[in-house]
Amino acid sequence: MCGIIGYIGKKNSVGYIIDGLKKLEYRGYDSAGVSILQDGKLVTVRAVGKVAELEKATLQVSPRGTLGIGHTRWATHGKPSEENSHPHTDCSGEIVVVHNGIIENYLVLREQLTALGHRFKSETDTEVIAHLIEENLKHVRSGKEEERLLKAVQKTNKEISGAFAYGVIWTHTPDLLIGVKNQSPLVVGIGKDENFLASDVPAFLQHTNKVLFLEEGEIVLLRAGQVTVLDKNGDEKKPKPTKISWDQKTAQKGGYDHFMLKEIYDQPQALEDTLRTARADFGKILGLDTTAMRGLKQVHIIACGTAYHAGLVGKYYIEQFAGIPVSVDLASEYKYRTIPHQTKTLAIAISQSGETADTIGAIKKAKEFGFRTLAICNVLGSTLTRTCDSTFFTHCGPEISVASTKAFTSQITAMYALAITLGLANGNLSKTAFDKLYRELLRLSKSMGETVKMEYTVRHLTRKIYKADRFIFLGRHVNFPIALEGALKLKEVSYRAAEGFAAGEIKHGPISIIEKGTPVFMLMPQDGLFEKMLSACQECRARGAFVVAITTPGGEAQAKSVSDKVFVVPQTSEFLQPILNVVPLQFLAYWIAKRLGCDIDQPRNLAKSVTVE
Ligand code: G6P
Repeated sequence: MCGIIGYIGKKNSVGYIIDGLKKLEYRGYDSAGVSILQDGKLVTVRAVGKVAELEKATLQVSPRGTLGIGHTRWATHGKPSEENSHPHTDCSGEIVVVHNGIIENYLVLREQLTALGHRFKSETDTEVIAHLIEENLKHVRSGKEEERLLKAVQKTNKEISGAFAYGVIWTHTPDLLIGVKNQSPLVVGIGKDENFLASDVPAFLQHTNKVLFLEEGEIVLLRAGQVTVLDKNGDEKKPKPTKISWDQKTAQKGGYDHFMLKEIYDQPQALEDTLRTARADFGKILGLDTTAMRGLKQVHIIACGTAYHAGLVGKYYIEQFAGIPVSVDLASEYKYRTIPHQTKTLAIAISQSGETADTIGAIKKAKEFGFRTLAICNVLGSTLTRTCDSTFFTHCGPEISVASTKAFTSQITAMYALAITLGLANGNLSKTAFDKLYRELLRLSKSMGETVKMEYTVRHLTRKIYKADRFIFLGRHVNFPIALEGALKLKEVSYRAAEGFAAGEIKHGPISIIEKGTPVFMLMPQDGLFEKMLSACQECRARGAFVVAITTPGGEAQAKSVSDKVFVVPQTSEFLQPILNVVPLQFLAYWIAKRLGCDIDQPRNLAKSVTVE
């Protein structure tokens, strides 16, 4: 979690840093801070709350300088307070650090440094980095100041453990900004006479799309007109920058009130772009040839949050179309469970950001077992994509809202493409069957275009129900994960209690929480389970629930007879239907949160990318 940014160039760095922090706010927003090197001294401004608070505080001080770093925090060690906000300094106030990740051995180091006379001002793990560099500098006496700083940083990196990325400035080296990457994201933006360091590309995309993705253990030395990368052994390497095709417009709200709403509306395009890749040789993208695909014995899917729900839908797809047994695990659980050894296993990690610590940890475990690993991911150059054997990129563009929408539907689409490809390769699907499924998939983007037109109807209904204190979502088969996702979306952005269940389970407990007026959302497209869902509607209604049926054309009349409100979602095939069915639930979460006055794009306590375990 947390977002870091650094600037070195010829212009005043403050504006670049504040703007960059606004783009990184999705990573955490408990507090924020900047440090600018001004006339040989560090000017640091920090504020509790969002970057807007920091911006106000910075305006009062008006620092100026061509070298600076900034941070937006999601608290791990120490409460959100000004003292705990980054940047953090050493005792002399000449070394300043911003950090993302966790220094696992910070308590031991803090004790040792305290015994050596260092005085700590915060409760954070980060502060030990500044003091350690200060301490190590004392022992590197020879060489120019820049060399001394580098050596002290290298020594520090050997002493700290955990996942971390940090940026450091020393007043004695005014032309140098150092960045360190170790298991937390850090990218470099290469500009003209200016360079950037950041946790993620959107932080500087406005200024340059030339990006260097650092590898684990690397150190980068940034100067106004030069970028030097050292590998984990300290040897210089010459990585090739990547040109990012995301434009700034895609990362902006584009006239919508919130990123979440914009991203719901982005979905037809996101699916189109995701499928463009699927049109290519998908087997090649998978890094699997036909023989390898034919021999697969099992698939493990690993993910967190919304991506986990996409994985649950993926299980139905792979078992249906490829006939291969699938297990789906929350990444945080996979890491700690016993995995019976089995050769010919494909482990798939699904992640929008590619930086979720649990997902990365779990896929590493799969690798240790010798499983082939595939990432389904949205972010080029992310840690996950570099860890897995191959990646299928979802190409849905930057997702800024903490609550995931377009990444989710793109992930399910990718799972479908994967499942039918495996099915064709291992003979579970005939070429005719594959072609039919594939054609349906290609029509999906158009149907999504129709589905997003539902906003008005959903919005209208929320006026009636937004004050309810609990919400229930029910679905079966491929729509069961959609019930889970509908509940998660609502919880995330509106802070209402919401639960999703398999509709068949309702009578085994959940029905007891239904009271008069409790809104219950029924995912009931006209498929083989429609009749069963009609019964579930009756059961809930008999207990006083306010039942909202989400069905497809043709199911409307029957749904009406057992519910209080019916939403009709455009029809697609049975297995693709969940991708459309989630849309009214995304609008529902959005509009309930909006009516309740919640902070939709940055819900309390959450962060988009959870880079700590
Ligand atoms: C966080 C976000 C969720 C997201 C989950 C997994 O909890 O708030 O929206 O689904 O992480 O993120 P990933 O980037 O791995 O898909």
